Amino acid sequence: MSVTSHRFYDDLASWWPLISAPAEYADEAAFAASLLRTSTPATETVLELGSGGGNNAFHLKRHFALTLVDLSEAMLEVSRALNPDCEHQQGDMRTIRLGRTFDAVFVHDAIEYMTDEDDLRRAVATVWEHCRPGGVAVLVPDDIAENFEPTTAHGGTDAPDGRGVRYLSWSTDPDPTDSTTVTEYAFLLRDTDGSTRVAHDTHTLGLFPRETWLRVLTDAGFVARSVAEVTSEDRLPREFFVGHRPGG
Ligand SMILES: C[S@@+](CC[C@H](N)C(=O)[O-])C[C@H]1O[C@@H](n2cnc3c(N)ncnc32)[C@H](O)[C@@H]1O
Repeated sequence: MSVTSHRFYDDLASWWPLISAPAEYADEAAFAASLLRTSTPATETVLELGSGGGNNAFHLKRHFALTLVDLSEAMLEVSRALNPDCEHQQGDMRTIRLGRTFDAVFVHDAIEYMTDEDDLRRAVATVWEHCRPGGVAVLVPDDIAENFEPTTAHGGTDAPDGRGVRYLSWSTDPDPTDSTTVTEYAFLLRDTDGSTRVAHDTHTLGLFPRETWLRVLTDAGFVARSVAEVTSEDRLPREFFVGHRPGG
């Protein structure tokens, strides 16, 4: 089990709010909330693993009491500024044990940092350990093997203090026989004094077929299904993996 560090979540973390804004998450967070709500009895507490800059949490905290876990202290600092009302904990989703359970456990795009089935199983074991009987798990990879397409994307915004970011991302699947894809990021970062620099970051991400997601959740003990996202965003709907923990 290795830990890979990414500049995006380390020395570049303070730029996250200009790269990815909370408003862009409203639609998807509302759909996630509709699934997170389905524990019996009804969901009040939610654990999010790999919560990053807290953009989903910003929307979900209106419905649930959230505990947020991320590997990166720098990203937790960004999230604490946006979500001072949420509990934050540093930890690896493959190994962390908080010693308590929640009504629901949520893992958004951070689950894609599980690049092989062993790591995916470790993360799902963590989800299981923290989900109470009768609770629900919701996992949301950006892509599954059935619908991955090579893409490029660009974005970024400016802050009132003069800082600004523009980025380009380029996702490919160099070896279609393995369980990973690669996303290359190029960032142009303009500081308050107008000076601008370039940064490059490479992310290796897991890509698994639907059958693997459902099997790994089922093997952990969940009653698993996949749900097609309903979205008004101009992109392919994501597949949400939902596991109900029997009992309760
Ligand atoms: C794209 S960001 C998540 C953004 C998040 N969806 C949001 O709403 O702001 C991915 C996050 O996954 C975290 N991450 C990567 N591997 C992890 C691991 N093994 N355990 C916990 N967090 C991890 C990174 O530190 C990063 O903050």
